[in-house]
Amino acid sequence: MIILGIETSCDETAIAILEKNNGQLSILSNIVSSQIALHAAWGGVVPNLAAREHLKNIIPVLKSALKEADKKMEDIDLIAVTHGPGLIPALLIGTNFAKTLAYLYKKPLMGIHHIEGHIYANFICNEINVNSKLQITNNKQNTNLKKETAFPILSLVVSGGHTQLVLMTDHFKYQVIGETQDDAAGEAFDKVARILELGYPGGPAISTQADNFNPSVTTDRFQISNDKKHTLPRPMLHSKDFNFSFSGLKTAVLYTVQNYRKENDLKKEDTLPNNFIREMAYEFQEAATDVLVYKTIQAALKYNPQTIFLAGGVSANSNLHDKLSQAIKKNIPQINFTLQPITYSTDNAAMIATAASYRWENMSSIQKKNLLHTWKTLQTNAQLKL
Ligand code: KG4
Ligand code: ZN
Repeated sequence: MIILGIETSCDETAIAILEKNNGQLSILSNIVSSQIALHAAWGGVVPNLAAREHLKNIIPVLKSALKEADKKMEDIDLIAVTHGPGLIPALLIGTNFAKTLAYLYKKPLMGIHHIEGHIYANFICNEINVNSKLQITNNKQNTNLKKETAFPILSLVVSGGHTQLVLMTDHFKYQVIGETQDDAAGEAFDKVARILELGYPGGPAISTQADNFNPSVTTDRFQISNDKKHTLPRPMLHSKDFNFSFSGLKTAVLYTVQNYRKENDLKKEDTLPNNFIREMAYEFQEAATDVLVYKTIQAALKYNPQTIFLAGGVSANSNLHDKLSQAIKKNIPQINFTLQPITYSTDNAAMIATAASYRWENMSSIQKKNLLHTWKTLQTNAQLKL
């Protein structure tokens, strides 16, 4: 079975081709055309510009994906597309393109929830065919290949638009047990990066700055922390639920920066010193990941999952991954936790095709046949619920 996946919910035009045979996944191609350079000038994603770029790129991206996979449109058995949530002008390019392809080539068409895609990206590294054309190259990741994924699964979903703890008792049975009450984790990384004048996208920039800060070098710590244990708050750490809040943390960073500017007589046009930026990035990353990890462990202790997934763009953050991994080993070592390759953490279409492959397997032949008509009915929904 060959599946074409399409993803345009934000600022990546992504198309992937996946082959699934006897439960084995092979990613034949996974093309992502990023618009980072375009949006960086505006300090964030501009929805209409994103749509214009998707429109410009989507046919070349499709051609590359087919070429790399050595397939033609006629070889495709199913088309899967992200139909929400996301930026509506961006989503509409992908869904209308998918509908057109489905109509032209008379193919079944399936809409996939973007967060479902991020969660199912974890199945790629668990069940990918080691002989597939697109191999995972990092040895650390290869040790996790071909493990059975056992339910219940608890997913910590951390992206630019979402922060959720999602419990799955089986495929597609989602229960959101906690979520952010304001900013998403990735959004907080992006906003803090802006405060620290690190530009867009903020997550990788914060992470690089934080990695360059060495907390054990006390002379490096003079700027913010001094002898206080934590300068920044850990919002909702001890709330009785599994919800999050990142907006106050971002504001605490803003006030710390404003105070620093005042105390050091910095003018508006003066840039912040590098060691201050590194320490602030470190402190913010520590605060954000402390809360994410603590709440995930608490949720796991309550719901007893067999497996924990880390999903969404922020899962590319090595501090978050390492901290969660260590906390699982210490508190709940029996739980299966695997490292997802970065390629599948941030937005891509292989994750969309993977989710579709599992949905397809769980469908009756009538349901599969009905997908031939989806090109007429598929709705695009910026607020689509999981
Ligand atoms: O899942 P994703 O690619 O797109 C959305 O669905 O939103 O996530 C993008 C988010 C952005 O906020 C970006 O800053 C963040 O993921 N991100 C990171 C890292 N890489 C990407 N955040 C922290 N550390 C990173 N290394
Ligand atoms: Zn995403």
